Amino acid sequence: MVRFKEPWWKRSVVYQIYPRSFMDSNGDGIGDLQGIISKLDYLKKLGVDVIWLSPIYDSPNDDNGYDIRDYRAIMNEFGTMDDFEQLIDEAKQRGIRIVMDLVVNHTSDEHHWFVHSRSSKDSKYRDYYIWRDGNEGDPPNNWGSIFSGSAWEKDKATDSFYLHLFSKKQPDLNWEHEPLRKEIFDLMKYWLDKGIGGFRMDVINFISKEDQLPDGEIHLGQLYGDGSPYFINGPKIHTYLQEMNEKVLQHYDVVTVGEMPGASTEDAQIFTNPGNQEVNMIFTFEHMNLDSGPYEKWDVQPLDLVKLKRNLEKWQHALHHVGWNSLYWNNHDQPRIVSRFGNDEVYRELSAKMLAICLHLLQGTPYIYQGEELGMTNVRFDDIHEYRDIETLNMYKEKRQQGIAHDKIMSGIYAKGRDNARTPMQWTSDGGFTTGTPWIRMNHNTSRINADQALADPSSIFYTYQKLIRLRKEFDIITYGSFQLLMPDHPNLFVYKRQTEDEEWLIVTNFSKQTEKMKWDEIDVQNKNGKIMIANYETHQLDGDIMEVRPYEAFVLSFRKEMAN
Ligand code: NOJ
Repeated sequence: MVRFKEPWWKRSVVYQIYPRSFMDSNGDGIGDLQGIISKLDYLKKLGVDVIWLSPIYDSPNDDNGYDIRDYRAIMNEFGTMDDFEQLIDEAKQRGIRIVMDLVVNHTSDEHHWFVHSRSSKDSKYRDYYIWRDGNEGDPPNNWGSIFSGSAWEKDKATDSFYLHLFSKKQPDLNWEHEPLRKEIFDLMKYWLDKGIGGFRMDVINFISKEDQLPDGEIHLGQLYGDGSPYFINGPKIHTYLQEMNEKVLQHYDVVTVGEMPGASTEDAQIFTNPGNQEVNMIFTFEHMNLDSGPYEKWDVQPLDLVKLKRNLEKWQHALHHVGWNSLYWNNHDQPRIVSRFGNDEVYRELSAKMLAICLHLLQGTPYIYQGEELGMTNVRFDDIHEYRDIETLNMYKEKRQQGIAHDKIMSGIYAKGRDNARTPMQWTSDGGFTTGTPWIRMNHNTSRINADQALADPSSIFYTYQKLIRLRKEFDIITYGSFQLLMPDHPNLFVYKRQTEDEEWLIVTNFSKQTEKMKWDEIDVQNKNGKIMIANYETHQLDGDIMEVRPYEAFVLSFRKEMAN
């Protein structure tokens, strides 16, 4: 077995690209690999050292590539295998690794495994998927799909039902079946041998389902049963991940991050403990669910900062010296953070920088989602037909059928819809993403918010991110220091400390548009003569017993510890 020293990914910063919306090189309105290549220097300038690509495999795009038809081919709209190899190569020349999205909880229904599987009960591929007989014509259980409707689809050819936790064009794979696991391990090697830097694993803690697939509880206001207790962190999840590690991952020096809805800190301690050889880190959803009702994300609740702080504190403590955290505010499934936990009007710049500073000073590997470094905002399309996301469109249809008013549904979409993250990257004042018609409408504010403008302004959000990345590379305390939450019950200030033996850093952030007061006494730092490491206001007044923390202000002070004598 090959062993590696201090993993490189602990000091890395990852940039996520949603290829469809990043940069179009050929004017068809769809982003592509050559588009990404043309922006590598931009990413190099930002300073990231890993790019995670949302799926680029051949796909009918029911769920924009998260429905894979051929794991070994590149999606036509995105380019060719030569383009991909060029991307790996050119990224490498700039010290950047490419991480692929591994979507193996399900495939597309157009994948040849499923085409064969559905054709006959005797097909060699039958057991690659989860088939059950119906219940007197009804689905085998009451589970709802995450994209609305039942999680089961009846298939005429064999008069049986297949499970699809997502859309009916995304049938779930049957990990119980050993030949299927082998196929997956082989395809992982196929990409790793091309020199990729690792995998982000899509809903990887859904792959082991409980045998009996029992009915789930039907929560208040829901049409279907909640199957999640029976497919999240199922009985064989650790066995499967360890097998994947033994057969594939441990033979390569790569990073792995498992997307794991519903995973707790206790689960994460097992998944990310290096001794268990499963994954390096996971994406938790707990902090992203704090502004949702108990049963669905569309039920938008105001953020309670105290809960957010307590939650991040729990994750920081649980994984310190045990496993490893990922740090994120945004991805292709989440609304834009500046519109969500910040303020996308007068305080857009300040609050975007504050959120960046708050997140990037935590322990873990930070992920930046395309456009986050520009402070891109949510969108509001009046017409539902302008939306493209299957989750949003199915939900809209189902809720309209239930008689829920258009405006009420739209307010959920404005706040939480995934297309908020998927509008084209804003490169120039007139867009700059494509010379054609973009596959989804551009946010109207590109005239104000765009990369050209950000690069030309030394005080832009872009340069705050650049500086945060540089600080991480330079100061060990960011990677290794312990974490301590201060003033835990303050409703608007998020203040914490990082510490090593000889240094401590104080991170002060204000999540509100009010000026807040903070007493030095309250925060127990060694002395007041700290050095500003990064901040989002230009001037600072740190003297006196009380500090005034201005609207959305953020700053970081470093102190050398006084040696006890
Ligand atoms: C999680 C992905 O992030 C999301 O975009 C996708 O729709 C589902 N998994 C299904 O693959």
